[in-house]
Amino acid sequence: MMKRILLVAGMMLIGVGAVSAQQDIVKQRQQAMKDNGKSLGGVLGAMAKDKIPYDQKAVDAAFAQLEASGKELVSLFPDSTKGLKGEGKYSSSPKVWENRSDFETHAAKYNKAVSETKASVKDLATLKAAVPVIGKQCSGCHETFRLKDG
Ligand code: HEC
Repeated sequence: MMKRILLVAGMMLIGVGAVSAQQDIVKQRQQAMKDNGKSLGGVLGAMAKDKIPYDQKAVDAAFAQLEASGKELVSLFPDSTKGLKGEGKYSSSPKVWENRSDFETHAAKYNKAVSETKASVKDLATLKAAVPVIGKQCSGCHETFRLKDG
């Protein structure tokens, strides 16, 4: 009997651990998205709008972040996190999992746009051309796959 109780308790702990590991993935993807927002809005977009001076080093760093987070984007949405919500105003639509190939196509198009624009940006004029190209891919995915709560 005791053994059985311990077994059940142990299994429950494993269950709790698994849920919090999944919750960590939600946190991780939300953080990656916030970092995307900083790179695109806070750095590249701010330069394109002449709010901060053009700085090639900062441009390179922003592109490096966008590229790195783009590579892991799909893996931050495993099946086990369907229906889980993190903190904040946004969450993932169930469509991420229900229309998986469409979601992955969006991610691939986004990654292509990032690497193509990265190669094209050399100065303020080319940056100004690049920002909307990337932004279109962000919002193109959000339109279908991101929910705004409340
Ligand atoms: C392939 C789809 C896809 C692409 C591309 C994408 N996002 Fe997202 N983004 C999402 C999804 C889905 C969520 C909701 C994640 C969650 O909360 O589970 C999200 C959430 C966010 C959030 C809210 C984060 C929070 O919790 O506060 C921001 C900001 C954001 N994205 C910015 C960007 C920017 C900027 C880009 C482009 C540089 C981008 N995203 C590209 C799908 C995408």
